[in-house]
Amino acid sequence: MNAPTPSVPGLPTDLSGRIVVVAGGGSVAPGWSIGRAACLTYARLGAQVCVLDRDHASAQETVRLIHEEGGQACAYEADMAVETDIAQCFADIHGRFGQVDVLHHNVGIGKTGGPMETSAEDLDRIHAVNVKSLMLSCQQVLPGMVQRRSGAILSIASVAGISYVGYPHLAYSTTKAAVIQMTRMIAQQYAPYGIRANTVVPGLIDTPRVAANVAHMFSQNLDEAKEARARQVPLNRMGTAWEVAQACAFLASDAASYITGTELLVDGGLTGKYA
Ligand SMILES: NC(=O)c1ccc[n+]([C@@H]2O[C@H](COP(=O)([O-])OP(=O)(O)OC[C@H]3O[C@@H](n4cnc5c(N)ncnc54)[C@H](O)[C@@H]3O)[C@@H](O)[C@H]2O)c1
Repeated sequence: MNAPTPSVPGLPTDLSGRIVVVAGGGSVAPGWSIGRAACLTYARLGAQVCVLDRDHASAQETVRLIHEEGGQACAYEADMAVETDIAQCFADIHGRFGQVDVLHHNVGIGKTGGPMETSAEDLDRIHAVNVKSLMLSCQQVLPGMVQRRSGAILSIASVAGISYVGYPHLAYSTTKAAVIQMTRMIAQQYAPYGIRANTVVPGLIDTPRVAANVAHMFSQNLDEAKEARARQVPLNRMGTAWEVAQACAFLASDAASYITGTELLVDGGLTGKYA
């Protein structure tokens, strides 16, 4: 007689009791940004979610949506380009919850244009928000994670950090490339302490920011612009913020316990298209 088939454990994505910080958990315009969808996903998995944003009202809206579903969350106001804001915010979080189990660095800004259209000030500002704040927020959580010998860091890059996306987006692309490499370096250095660090690489995602800031690169008509973006993608559509959030939740959870120092592309096949 054959031995009984061992039961297959479910995916251990439960985040009950975990303190998750999402830096950039609001949305630049009403609707579902990646950070907001991720905050709700973490809360649905049982986490206590700390929603940081420079737009306090937007962070509070994310918290309201979580509370409406019975989840746990609180809002913090911080400009992630300002070191003292970051330090104050994490001091408040540590004071209240004692630790941070997951850091999800979600903030990202850009400006279209190549070298002739990008000023030194633009590059400094975009670097401060996209890259420097990743390092500064890691400085806030790594000591506690080292002490506890566990923790997960998640950064958000972009396909623009890997490939040319069809129009010049120099400062955004180069800083997103830096996000990927910084996360890989942190992963290697801190792996011996049981800390994992990975990057989610979204493709063309239909968020309020795209309508507000990016769609005009494709067409002045928003519907046409969205269709033009969708047509580029092998799966023939833009992704949703929720589809990116699922990938974030996987990497943040114990379901990804043997995954560190890598990138998870959530791009409908876009990056591999002409590879
Ligand atoms: N939407 C896409 O197609 C797409 C594609 C690839 C990567 N991404 C990346 O995903 C992330 C989220 O994008 P989104 O489209 O949901 O955009 P979003 O702009 O709505 O979300 C970013 C949030 O960060 C906040 N923020 C910006 N600068 C900040 C600062 N200095 N301090 C604190 N908070 C700040 C904003 O207020 C906003 O709530 C970004 O890193 C973006 O680069 C988006």
